[in-house]
Amino acid sequence: MTVEDEDDVVALRRVGAIVAEAREAMLAAAQPGVSTGELDAIGREVLRRHGARSAPRLAYGFPGSCCIGINDRVAHGIPSSTAVLRSGDLVNVDVSAELDGYWSDTGASVAVGEVAPAHRRLLDATLAAQRDAMGVARAGRPLRHIGRAVERRARAAGFAVIPELAGHGVGRGIHEPPMVWNVELTRERTRLHEGLVLAIEPFLTPGTPAVVEDADGWTLRTIDGSVAAQFEHSIVVTAGEPIVLTAA
Ligand code: CO
Ligand code: CO
Repeated sequence: MTVEDEDDVVALRRVGAIVAEAREAMLAAAQPGVSTGELDAIGREVLRRHGARSAPRLAYGFPGSCCIGINDRVAHGIPSSTAVLRSGDLVNVDVSAELDGYWSDTGASVAVGEVAPAHRRLLDATLAAQRDAMGVARAGRPLRHIGRAVERRARAAGFAVIPELAGHGVGRGIHEPPMVWNVELTRERTRLHEGLVLAIEPFLTPGTPAVVEDADGWTLRTIDGSVAAQFEHSIVVTAGEPIVLTAA
């Protein structure tokens, strides 16, 4: 969506703060021995307390409130009481919700217990790629500069961007145009404009950058079993720094 007035910004900030609160609560609870089902219950409770509804459940009938995946489960992971975090894992939580007709989307990956330095570097590079991408999301600039910024950061750190997974417009629905690719598509001619609401979410991996759908019909796994990381914020494009709706 494109923000039309201050009421839109207020409403987007409200739902953005809720998904950010749920994300932070789940990240803080991501300790060895905790199941992804337990993390989901924490996120669900935050949404419930604020009267917000889970976006994946509402829009797609997803069998959970939040998408949570361990290691190679890079996106749309179904929370489960049998998926238990172990020290050394990376876990990704992705929270999106609707409140009063406004939608917001955020996600983050975190290390569980003691993780290998290579995993730590993957988290750092993916976080930096997300920040770089937000930094070039400015009115008047080409949309494809977001993908360029992600690719540059990934390459410099020795990781690969998963090109199939993209950010998107958000605001009046969970997935709106435009697609926000994490690689630079030279044919992409869209320019960013003031008030445009985007979810920016790079996915990086040290392995082969391709994903397959799991037999459960939801979970996307890396094709070679490599770990992956993602960070996501919903933002409003302005003439200067974007408004980050889902900041901690
Ligand atoms: Co998301
Ligand atoms: Co998203």
